[in-house]
Amino acid sequence: MGIRKKIPKSQELTYALSVKDAMCKNVVKVSPYLSIKKLREILKENAISGAPVVEKGRVIGVISIEDLIKCLVKGEITAKIKDKMTKEITVCHPEDPLIKAIQIFERTGYGRLPVVEKDNNKLVGILTKSDIVMCLFKKLRSLYETKEEKEDENHLPLYSELKGDFSFKMEKPVEKMDFKKAGSVSSAFKDAMEKFGLPKDVVRRVSISAYEAEMNMVIYSEGGTMTLQIDPHKAKIEANDNGPGIDDVKKALTPGYSTAPDWIRELGFGAGMGLPNIQNNSDKLKIRTKKGKFTRLSFEVNLK
Ligand SMILES: Nc1ncnc2c1ncn2[C@@H]1O[C@H](COP(=O)(O)OP(=O)(O)O)[C@@H](O)[C@H]1O
Ligand SMILES: [Mg+2]
Repeated sequence: MGIRKKIPKSQELTYALSVKDAMCKNVVKVSPYLSIKKLREILKENAISGAPVVEKGRVIGVISIEDLIKCLVKGEITAKIKDKMTKEITVCHPEDPLIKAIQIFERTGYGRLPVVEKDNNKLVGILTKSDIVMCLFKKLRSLYETKEEKEDENHLPLYSELKGDFSFKMEKPVEKMDFKKAGSVSSAFKDAMEKFGLPKDVVRRVSISAYEAEMNMVIYSEGGTMTLQIDPHKAKIEANDNGPGIDDVKKALTPGYSTAPDWIRELGFGAGMGLPNIQNNSDKLKIRTKKGKFTRLSFEVNLK
């Protein structure tokens, strides 16, 4: 469908890198029972503009320089941090892809995100936009230096040894609203493609699209299955779900179009770039959908 626009490497990397690759592990954190006066000293000493508030290792809020200024204006410098902090906080997890954190930053305008373990909310790091920029910059530089295209040439891919007479297929279920497992199917596919020795560029393009299709199934659908198929000349993904279908496919393919509710946006999704990214990364894309019944997405990336 259409002409594929090449998506920049920096954007591809935001899917491939995780929050843990970018986050800062040395976090300056504060106790909820400290005073605003003490907070002022801590922020100044460390030259930071905010900090997560932590009790027994777990994040219970964040306090920023804006909160501090408000207190100073009102002369509340003996107030406790716990009474002045923001309690409804947005966090991210170490294993989240960077794209998710970037979307949260874009959506919320926050300056920093606490990074907590998924199961127990334990603080393991902090992420700022400049951490992300530095991480991308380092990765791009090392990619540039290692010239991975050369590696592809030297390493004889399994699929080419098979001399064009094979077809590999792998199917996985996707559960609706299961944010804990979300992303695991596309990573399993990525693994399989890497083991198969597909060119890195193909693996990246298919993985990005598979991740977006998987997230859409988790967020919007009633769940379904995804299939990866590797043929001699193409890698193909099918994402079949059990409704509710897409009202207007053309609209859904428009960059920025999203019907995501606010709470989904707060999780960092709903930028409306999923389907457009799939389209840009695929050599062939088909969407079949029936209102109230199903959505069947299939896309292919050519191997030659
Ligand atoms: N599997 C699906 N089932 C139903 N609706 C979907 C599905 N996938 C996408 N959509 C619709 O298409 C819109 C655009 O999707 P996408 O480009 O991925 O952006 P986003 O996920 O950020 O909203 C979604 O907001 C949703 O309305
Ligand atoms: Mg999406």
